[in-house]
Amino acid sequence: MIVALEESIYFMTLMAKKTLQELPFESLAGQIVILRVDYNVPLGNEGRITDQTRLDPTITTIRHLIQGRARIVIISHLGRPNGKPDPALSLKGIPERLAKLLKSPVNFCSSTTGPEACEAVEALEDGDVLLMENTRFYPGDVSNDQIWAEELRHGSTLFVNDAFGTAHRSHASTTGIAKAVRDSGGQAVAGHLMEKELRFLGDALIDPDPPFVAIIGGSKISGKIDVIEALLPNVDRILVGGAMANTFFLSLGLEVGKSLVEPDKVDIARDIMYRAGDKIILPVDVLASSELNEEASTRESLRTEVMPEEYIADIGSMSMRIFAKEISSAKTIIWNGPMGLFEVPKFAIGTTKLAQEAAQSSENGSTVVLGGGDLAAAVEVAGFASSMTHVSTGGGAALEFLSGAELPGLEALSDRSD
Ligand code: 3PG
Repeated sequence: MIVALEESIYFMTLMAKKTLQELPFESLAGQIVILRVDYNVPLGNEGRITDQTRLDPTITTIRHLIQGRARIVIISHLGRPNGKPDPALSLKGIPERLAKLLKSPVNFCSSTTGPEACEAVEALEDGDVLLMENTRFYPGDVSNDQIWAEELRHGSTLFVNDAFGTAHRSHASTTGIAKAVRDSGGQAVAGHLMEKELRFLGDALIDPDPPFVAIIGGSKISGKIDVIEALLPNVDRILVGGAMANTFFLSLGLEVGKSLVEPDKVDIARDIMYRAGDKIILPVDVLASSELNEEASTRESLRTEVMPEEYIADIGSMSMRIFAKEISSAKTIIWNGPMGLFEVPKFAIGTTKLAQEAAQSSENGSTVVLGGGDLAAAVEVAGFASSMTHVSTGGGAALEFLSGAELPGLEALSDRSD
């Protein structure tokens, strides 16, 4: 059974985790600190970073550690190399960009554990920053091998986790190392980014200023059912868009043409609508398209008039106005998932229009929190990301958090009372 978030003991425990901010600043000097970040970033030619939105928010934690004169060892995964080295997924392109952001040098070690890595850690001086190679080049990471986690600890007694985006994984570089550090008498704490994510996502869920509006989009209803269930008791409105709206349309007996839809989830959609009553608002019109590309011919259609040969590619302009009105009167907004196939510019209009409205609300003092993943990318491209109260760096992790599921990476951290 899913319980309302504010009743979830797990959720309250989560808010009781120890943070870097709480540790005495003087205690950092000379300590080896292992900092887990999520630099799972898109790479372009020759391993160059094409999007640094996952680097920027880690800077506060790294600066804190540099100023505290810690010896900083940064670890991260990138992609899914299946436990073996893959040059295309090397983190070696990151230090140059990171050093520019930090205005301070960042060294790179082409291994993560083993003699070369140990030597690199031993050579660190106070305030130095060292980035290790991709943790997933080693099978022990994903299998959460406790022996490998102990090696990864490099004798450190302080582990800082800033990888909110990977908090839903129980890997050696997230939970295993936290256990190893705690077992050695040390502490595993949340970094500034992790704390910020918890504060913004958590506050919006636990104590939302009403009216509280959730916008849920994206392709599949299956990944979002638990989120909708968890939000239902507290939310005033849930605005549904993206391909997941098609499954709701199908449950109403409407034609969805060749659109992406989950027929096996129709009963769940019907049940949610029944229980949500007027809290749930579906698009009344859509952008119907002949193909799913920029050259396609499109037309605005009422949701009741989609043709069998058409695709539903975005919400329509009446729906945009209805959704915009809800957004402009909301005091708290949580948004997860785009409204249409935003990767194709002509289908990004719904997402962009709502992003503009949400940015305006945020500037007018409402709390606007966006889940990461596709939506973060879409809002960044539209130029509204910096106007939002908070854009999460977690895709899957933000979804799990919003649904009240356990996040092992957080669970593994020291409690405030430890
Ligand atoms: C993400 O990008 O969602 C995180 O970095 C987690 O990556 P993963 O799904 O490969 O574990």
